[in-house]
Amino acid sequence: MNYEKTEFELQGANGMKLSWLLSNGQVFMITCTDIEKSVNGIITACWISPTSHNPLLLTASIGNGEKGSEAYRFCHSLINETKEFGLNIPTTDLTEAIFKVGTTHSNMVNKFSEAGLTPMTGKKISAPLIEECFMNIECKVIISYITGDHTVFVAKPVAAFMDEDVIVNGKFSDKYYDKKNQVQIGDLITKWNMW
Ligand SMILES: Cc1cc2nc3c(=O)[nH]c(=O)nc-3n(C[C@H](O)[C@H](O)[C@H](O)COP(=O)(O)O)c2cc1C
Repeated sequence: MNYEKTEFELQGANGMKLSWLLSNGQVFMITCTDIEKSVNGIITACWISPTSHNPLLLTASIGNGEKGSEAYRFCHSLINETKEFGLNIPTTDLTEAIFKVGTTHSNMVNKFSEAGLTPMTGKKISAPLIEECFMNIECKVIISYITGDHTVFVAKPVAAFMDEDVIVNGKFSDKYYDKKNQVQIGDLITKWNMW
């Protein structure tokens, strides 16, 4: 078969759209705090990926831009300071909260109250976790790499908590195994008419 191909322009807005297309899909909320625990941060993030089974490691790519720039994330400074964060997995009923968290800065608003989320004390990290999320993973950063306008934090999960119905008979229950019940970046981009 002879496929006709059109060149895809990599510059400008298309570059951003390509990174959405390449994103593995799932949307998370990351929680963090400063050393004094004087401010809590929450950031919506989809650039999260497992990266090693043994040891168990994951990566989180977080914008590191200057204040006022597109890649500015207040949470970047908190994670950089404490070298820890909570990874919280939401279901689709938290889509509105994800939007609020992903479009405001944690040094400007209290995202827990603004987004109607409940802070939950962790076991091994100082940052609060999000009670409404069905799974909460406490992570310690072991190394980080500045790739460009984002920093990749490589982190080790050190404790994790889940709702009682997540595992049934030793398996993830359909409610959580089915990715349609988790928030997908493509669905949000479509909903927000950003393609
Ligand atoms: C669906 C969605 C996914 C996002 N994924 C990421 C991501 O993976 N990494 C990142 O640095 N920012 C990501 N963002 C942007 C941040 O969530 C956003 O800039 C937020 O306002 C930063 O909050 P902060 O200033 O409290 O850190 C995403 C936003 C949305 C809406």
